[in-house]
Amino acid sequence: MQNDVIQKSLEHFKGILEDQLQRVERLKKSADWIDYSKVKPVIIGVIGGDGIGPYIADEAKRALTFLLKDEVDSGNVVLRTIEGWTIEKRAEVKKAIPDDVLAEIKKCHICLKGPTTTPKKGDKWPNIESANVAMRKELDLFANIRPVRVLSEGIDWTFFRENTEDLYALGNRGLDVTDDLAFDFKVITTQGSDRIIRAAFDYAKANGKKRVTAVTKANVVKATDGKFLTVFYEIAKGYPEIEADDWFIDIMTAKLIDTKRRTQFEVFVLPNLYGDILTDEAAEFQGGVGTAGSANVGKQYAMFEAIHGSAPRMVDEGRAQFADPSSMLRASSMLLKHLGHKEKGEQLGMALDICGTYEQKFKLTGRSDGATGREYVDYVMETIQRDDLKEKWERLTGARQPA
Ligand code: IPM
Ligand code: MG
Repeated sequence: MQNDVIQKSLEHFKGILEDQLQRVERLKKSADWIDYSKVKPVIIGVIGGDGIGPYIADEAKRALTFLLKDEVDSGNVVLRTIEGWTIEKRAEVKKAIPDDVLAEIKKCHICLKGPTTTPKKGDKWPNIESANVAMRKELDLFANIRPVRVLSEGIDWTFFRENTEDLYALGNRGLDVTDDLAFDFKVITTQGSDRIIRAAFDYAKANGKKRVTAVTKANVVKATDGKFLTVFYEIAKGYPEIEADDWFIDIMTAKLIDTKRRTQFEVFVLPNLYGDILTDEAAEFQGGVGTAGSANVGKQYAMFEAIHGSAPRMVDEGRAQFADPSSMLRASSMLLKHLGHKEKGEQLGMALDICGTYEQKFKLTGRSDGATGREYVDYVMETIQRDDLKEKWERLTGARQPA
């Protein structure tokens, strides 16, 4: 009996090893970065997702259409809505990404995505893989970039979370060996670490940042986190002008609430799960996960999304129009910058700081006593058009506009 169990488990593990060894070979031959300036038209897919997703995605699309008016008019940019990536449809076809949706996504160069419900054990949905996780793997969106800033408190962080490996890589291929024994697998590769760490250092260099901090638990999780850390210090040698240091995830979590120390961090790079957790904590200082945008960037595709859930209760209670579109607007700002429309991205970012953090003419409460998402986006668009946008932003934040 015990031999049978071991044999079956070994078979399972063998399959995983074969797949991962092949994956490493694919990573070694990885493609070049897409150059958006050479693509015409650039197709931007807007994906609603579930719950409040379609509401806030529509609002973000309105803001993007406004900001990209000239490009859309000249045919350089096309904005396209992609339907059908809903939990109902995913449950029906029992797939994280229905085939027709995936085909549509692949026709776009870049996407903006609303939240998608992640089924978990015990709820009413079949136990399909998370749509986000599947998409990151499918399109090889290895860099999860999450900025958090409260400039008036000296917080200006950019997280580079590895997005395709670690405990997530095989999250749906864990093993119930017996009723009493379960295994999950943590995967870290040299190539997967190399590309995210390089992206973090390149970003630091291009944006005048002086420090890159790696976060692991390499004192305990020695093989995988140990590899990540070794690659980190190897790559750091190529960037002598940038200070490289590393922290363990537990003390890093604590240091983010240490008001004296936290202002000294600039760019973080970390494996998937630590990045998932630390970025939620970080976003809380800025006003919560609802205010944070997120970029999933690969060499060929990129997808920008909210980092919060789909709030189905708001839809059930008829409150979807009061949902806060800020996260999708933050994601849109990142999308614009990623496409090379740096100034437009900055303008949207400044307007969001003014409207959401400082001036707050319209407050979103998620209920009828607050503004609707539509009113809020109108307010943001009006703010962008102010002649004194930059001066106002500098006055309110006490910061200078990033160069
Ligand atoms: C995120 C989310 C996802 C993740 C979930 C929805 C699978 O928490 O984007 O941070 O864990 O990556
Ligand atoms: Mg998360």
